[in-house]
Amino acid sequence: MASLTLRDLSLTYPNGARAVDGITLDLADGSFLALLGPSGCGKSSLLRMIAGLETPTSGAVLLDGRDVTRVEPKDRDVAMVFQGLALYPHMTVADNMGLGLRARRTPEGEIDRRVAEAAEMLGLTRYLAKKPRELSGGERQRVALGRALVRRPKVFLFDEPLSSLDAQLRQELREELARLHAHTRTTSVYVTHDQKEALSLGEQVAVLRAGKLIQVAPPDTVYRDPRDLFVARFVGEPAINMIEGALRSAGDGARFEAEGLALPIAGRLRDTPRVTMGIRPEHVALSPAPAGAPATVDRVERLGGETLIHLRGPWGAAIARVAPGGAMPDAGAATGAVFDPTRVLLFDGASGERIA
Ligand SMILES: Nc1ncnc2c1ncn2[C@@H]1O[C@H](COP(=O)(O)OP(=O)(O)O)[C@@H](O)[C@H]1O
Ligand SMILES: [Mg+2]
Repeated sequence: MASLTLRDLSLTYPNGARAVDGITLDLADGSFLALLGPSGCGKSSLLRMIAGLETPTSGAVLLDGRDVTRVEPKDRDVAMVFQGLALYPHMTVADNMGLGLRARRTPEGEIDRRVAEAAEMLGLTRYLAKKPRELSGGERQRVALGRALVRRPKVFLFDEPLSSLDAQLRQELREELARLHAHTRTTSVYVTHDQKEALSLGEQVAVLRAGKLIQVAPPDTVYRDPRDLFVARFVGEPAINMIEGALRSAGDGARFEAEGLALPIAGRLRDTPRVTMGIRPEHVALSPAPAGAPATVDRVERLGGETLIHLRGPWGAAIARVAPGGAMPDAGAATGAVFDPTRVLLFDGASGERIA
């Protein structure tokens, strides 16, 4: 196991694409980082530099304090698992799992022992003598995990390993991965564009945008205290509500104003003509006007464990997340939208940066 440090790491491809732009990160030994960002933001490029499959244009990769930037992948002791990792069809599950060890000339007895141990951890023991074609998609992905696991690397790198699986299987393997990490405590970097996956797996979540690191924080912090509008919108399902308006200082505090809406905001804030107010659906409640901003119910969406009420008003549109059951308004009904002022997030309308 090892600590992993990225120091001002950048990668520009020969065609001029700047895929990774000055990333600095410190991962403690045994930690699990989820690297989250939209497709094309540089996640795979970053992971490939950690693995040694890509040479940085500038910056350094350190494993346990040792600079490995120019070290060959095979000498780095990192194992990478990716989405479409192919298994050899003519080889048994056991041989597929032992492949990396055999290539490193590990004694056969040791290979057998480690494969058996990994198979046990992954629930693959009874498949060891089978061929990949006799396995389901989820079992095959477990074998791919097993291949990385038997190497007992210093660092695990996962590049969207679950994205080709169906939702149920993804959920199962996510739990499996969390369990494996709790058991082995191997330093891990897990790349995904799926915010739910990142929040559920990562001890820390690093949000990447256009090659730049925007925020690194525990999942709760990324959700509740996003650094900017991009992070706020990328994390959370349904997405955070956004209302355009203006900020006016008022006495000791300030007021966020949109048409038909005036919300008191604590703290002295400057007058800002263009502000985006963000509020999570669970912090919007319904109340008959005049208690809230005037609103009409567009749609009531029942999802079993929760109900989403789609609202519209002169101030814009928002979703309220409420517990199911009880009296629900009908579509078309007039109501009031109450935004919890203590939960409001304010962003500069031009830059998207958080306003303190
Ligand atoms: N081998 C390559 N040559 C040139 N550009 C590349 C190459 N690989 C990726 N890119 C570009 O670099 C950017 C980041 O890609 P990638 O790291 O694959 O992102 P992600 O994994 O987040 O989807 C994209 O704009 C992509 O088109
Ligand atoms: Mg990728």
